[in-house]
Amino acid sequence: MKKAIIASLSVACLAMGSCSGNKDNALQLNKNNIDEIVNAMTLEEKSLLLVGIGMPGMSGTETVVGETDMIIPGAAGVTNAIPRLGIPSIVLADGPAGLRIKPTRENDSKTYYCTAFPVGVCLAASWNKQLVEQTGEAIGNEVREYGCDILLAPGTNIQRNPLCGRNYEYYSEDPILSGMTAAAYIKGVQKMGVGTSIKHFALNNQETNRSYMDSRASERAKREIYYKPFEIAIKEAKPWTVMSSYNYIDGVYASQNPTLLQDVLRGEWGYKGLVMTDWFGGDNGAANIQSGNDLIMPGSDDRRAQIIEAYKKGELSDEALNASVKRTLELIVKCPTFNGYQYSNNPDLKAHAQISRNNACEGIVLLKNNDNTLPITSKSKNIALFGITSYCYNSGGIGSGDVNEAYTVDLLEGMKNAGFNLDTKLAKKYQDSVKEQTEKYDKEHAGKNDAIFAKFTPKDFAINGNEIEGYALTNELAIITLGRMSGEFADRHISEFYLKEEEKNLINQVSETFHKNNKKVVVVLNICGAMETASWRDKVDAILVPWLGGQEGGNAVADVLSGKVNPSGKLPMTFYKDYFDTPGAKNFPYDKIADAKSMFGDKAVNRDSIENYDYTIYSEDIFVGYRGLEKEGKEAAYPFGYGLSYTTFQIEDLKVERKKTKVIIKVTIKNSGDFPGKEVAQLFVTSPHAEKHPLRELLDYQKTDKLIAGQSQELTFDIDFDRLSCWDEELHSSTMDIGEYTFQVGDKKVKIKL
Ligand code: BGC
Repeated sequence: MKKAIIASLSVACLAMGSCSGNKDNALQLNKNNIDEIVNAMTLEEKSLLLVGIGMPGMSGTETVVGETDMIIPGAAGVTNAIPRLGIPSIVLADGPAGLRIKPTRENDSKTYYCTAFPVGVCLAASWNKQLVEQTGEAIGNEVREYGCDILLAPGTNIQRNPLCGRNYEYYSEDPILSGMTAAAYIKGVQKMGVGTSIKHFALNNQETNRSYMDSRASERAKREIYYKPFEIAIKEAKPWTVMSSYNYIDGVYASQNPTLLQDVLRGEWGYKGLVMTDWFGGDNGAANIQSGNDLIMPGSDDRRAQIIEAYKKGELSDEALNASVKRTLELIVKCPTFNGYQYSNNPDLKAHAQISRNNACEGIVLLKNNDNTLPITSKSKNIALFGITSYCYNSGGIGSGDVNEAYTVDLLEGMKNAGFNLDTKLAKKYQDSVKEQTEKYDKEHAGKNDAIFAKFTPKDFAINGNEIEGYALTNELAIITLGRMSGEFADRHISEFYLKEEEKNLINQVSETFHKNNKKVVVVLNICGAMETASWRDKVDAILVPWLGGQEGGNAVADVLSGKVNPSGKLPMTFYKDYFDTPGAKNFPYDKIADAKSMFGDKAVNRDSIENYDYTIYSEDIFVGYRGLEKEGKEAAYPFGYGLSYTTFQIEDLKVERKKTKVIIKVTIKNSGDFPGKEVAQLFVTSPHAEKHPLRELLDYQKTDKLIAGQSQELTFDIDFDRLSCWDEELHSSTMDIGEYTFQVGDKKVKIKL
């Protein structure tokens, strides 16, 4: 990798871990002299501070950076240091499922692996704010101990459509679940004295043409759905930074959009931290700064020149420039690097693996469990493990959100660790195929640096009927794992939502044969997001969704299969019967438009030319996910919030009490079965004036402790009236309707006039 050449500015020093400063100059940055430093900076220095460095090999125009310039190899970027004023570089690294840095370094025998935690969608499926916060703490600890300052996470965009490539990094189709999960995550990470960057603000709900497409949603949809999770997390957890998104919003780049960044974020929500661009996002440095986007990442000499030129011409105000410089300095003085933190390069990976496993277990959703197929009570049973994904388990997704972990426990290994007997002949057949396919792929891709763009997942293959007969005779149970992988840069194709031919055949053949022999079939969905289940679920006895559960994924599934852990995860999104049941399904690049890039090139000629490519109309308005499905009276295969347990729970009591500015809702949940377990109280509200609202909306949630048989727990929700408000497009503000509100937890409802 070439060494950095920062061409144009003599004041620049290359990004350095710490900046010893110029001893002849008395003025050095400290927490109390930020205004003085701003006054002392030259225009060139200011422009340098506001434009960072990053992405070895991919930088803009004249700047070529190498890996060592990232200070911590594999980090996503750094800010420029200004030694004259004692301003060091700070290190920014991805990403939501754990810290993403390079695990090995040249001439260094030590390894720098990070823990792969369950991906965002699995964290959200736990509906457990405390556990998410604990995961955040563990991630934050790795950020700090590996010498980084800011974690580029959490991903908080709404899962508008099941095919968005980055859904795995995001939390939910629901703004409350997304916002509260993000808030817990941020609190956890930042407790460790490092920062987060909540991303991608806002309306970045598709990957297709993500840098140039225009998201067009109503004011109400923006406020109630797409901005909402950011609003919740920003107000509650105060992330040190916000990352603006790539896309345009109503014709203006999000990173150059004063309505979004000044009026809403800073004005209405009172956000005091720093805003940075997504990598190479936007197209004009001066417009970034003028509209409140402080830091341009990773930036280029062009962007710096734009800032300088616009300032000289009077097009970029002193006020805007200095405000961004000040916010950047305020961020820097909070960072471990500035404060001289001596990082250990030695986080407790063993303890973190345990946290990863706990959270992976807690996010597992049990969709079906006929005749108590699960848990598998006898370990002496032989099990036939079908599906190639069982043997090359997906821990995370593709792109910047993927972690470089030391290992991934696949399902075979996890089940063996739990003491199950697996069919070794079948295992060998799959393992040989994984090996063969991987070797072929590696050979074809030797020397190509495309790991961030794709991840190889071996393909399933047909097993003939006679062979399956044999496995059905020698085993007591069949488990079939199906895998789905997605990520940055591309949305999933509609065909990925449905079963592939070979998967259909596998389910049909294995189910028929095992059932004929009075043996059960379990399906494990090692998936990045929702898929179709309605056409095949009746053929199998149990279905478990462990998502992409991080490096301990196989152990976590085995914990649930064995009953060591009682599943308590709930779906954070709707599992539609059919893709076209998705509200606004056609207003998404679901078919060949996803390949439009190859047809039209990177940038289409006219912003208005290709629907769902150059621009996307959010036609379903606020009726996203279950809000739309229920309004249309359609049934889901498995609805939002769904998830079974090995025990049963009863809602014993639901009460609401009106106070001056809020309502207090109390609910008592009892474990009415005989297996210890946790349950989620999902509090929904139905607002008056039904015609303009969804039939019900999530308002809050809490998870019980682990309750033993017969045990009850009371949970209390404090709901301020402003959480019941909706957006009025005529008044351009939020208002609360007067009338009767219905609160619902499980099958119990309680009404009150407000
Ligand atoms: C992604 C961001 C990420 C950044 C740095 C971009 O491509 O959209 O989520 O943080 O790269 O890696």
